[in-house]
Amino acid sequence: MNIEKFKQDPRMPKHIAFIVDGNGRWATKRNLTRSMGHEAGFENLKKQIEFVQELGIKNLSMYCFSCENWKRSKQEVDFLMELFNRMLDEFKQKYINKDIRFIISGNMNDERLPLIVRNKAKELMELTKDKNGFVINACINYGGRQEILKVVNELIESGVKIVDEKLFEKHLYTAEMLPLDFVIRTSGEKRLSNFLTWQSTYSEWYFPKKLWPSFNKKDLIKALKSYMKRDRRFGAVKA
Ligand code: IPE
Ligand code: IPE
Ligand code: MG
Repeated sequence: MNIEKFKQDPRMPKHIAFIVDGNGRWATKRNLTRSMGHEAGFENLKKQIEFVQELGIKNLSMYCFSCENWKRSKQEVDFLMELFNRMLDEFKQKYINKDIRFIISGNMNDERLPLIVRNKAKELMELTKDKNGFVINACINYGGRQEILKVVNELIESGVKIVDEKLFEKHLYTAEMLPLDFVIRTSGEKRLSNFLTWQSTYSEWYFPKKLWPSFNKKDLIKALKSYMKRDRRFGAVKA
């Protein structure tokens, strides 16, 4: 396949998202611990970030930890927190001198999150806030409903009497990102699990069966080809 030609296709989405599901099942199938599945998932995430960038897609969102994931065992949660700590370090080291902006969506004031993770997340956002090339949005301790309530509370606090969509969107974590075009959830589960609720109302969805650590570049291209064939009408009639 001619990647250069594919990249130039005007139907290429501008903002895609990954719900990186299936790390646990990937590990269990191989008689490994769930943590080893998360480790493999992280390795794959790094590769996918490169592919997405290579394809010229402008914005990437990724679901790393939901508000509901605190229900998991202490051992698994602790491992994930340590992984995020490492992930933030690696992102800083690798991308700080590139034209890449980081947004961390989710409640970074939650005391259940290790202070070091909260601080590193805030630092990475602050250090890259003026970059305007590729945007990576990592959703950590994130929930779509919680985000909507955050917006509502900020609006109440501001004292406004009337709210429209434009004003509402200014308070979302993704305020400065492009509209969310395409969401890929691996592992065959066909649900949203509280991901980018406001943002995904008109997104296209894709549910490959592959478990996240096995989802590769070929699978990404297949997903994008499926997206490009779709007719997005946004309520209007077919063009
Ligand atoms: C997704 O993989 C990663 C996180 C939620 C952090 P899972 O851990 O949900 O994997 P499965 O669904 O149990 O296989
Ligand atoms: C969604 O996956 C959250 C992340 C991928 C981070 P889950 O595995 O937590 O979702 P459910 O529990 O299957 O809905
Ligand atoms: Mg899961």
